[in-house]
Amino acid sequence: APVEKTGAGGGIIAKDVLGNPIPAAQILVEVPGSRALVAGLGGEPTYLIVKEDHTLDSIGILDNCTHLGCTFPWNPNDQQFQCPCHGSRYAPDGTVVRGPAPLPLKIFHVAVIDNRILISPWTETDPRTGEKPWWV
Ligand code: FES
Repeated sequence: APVEKTGAGGGIIAKDVLGNPIPAAQILVEVPGSRALVAGLGGEPTYLIVKEDHTLDSIGILDNCTHLGCTFPWNPNDQQFQCPCHGSRYAPDGTVVRGPAPLPLKIFHVAVIDNRILISPWTETDPRTGEKPWWV
């Protein structure tokens, strides 16, 4: 499916696996602390975080391990993303807890506008490192 452009800094509307836009309301009813996987920029799997107040966290995280690119689940018991390929573990914000992953997970801006979820590139300072993002 063609990428839906919004004109807002290269952002796109979050979609489901079938390519249909996901209403924000559908994600926001999930259990607080949930990580919802959506198709984000370039169709790449992206985790959205449902906060305690049933709003979305303004940072989304790419489901792509910085070691060799595996996808990985969120482990709610350990409060970590845990890569099944070689055992890398990441904190809720995507920073590395245990290697071999060499870098923090890529992040995106997430915003809800009129029940749509807008995902756009993160190009400024990485708040986790205080440095320019490694992916820019
Ligand atoms: Fe995730 Fe190797 S690809 S640990």
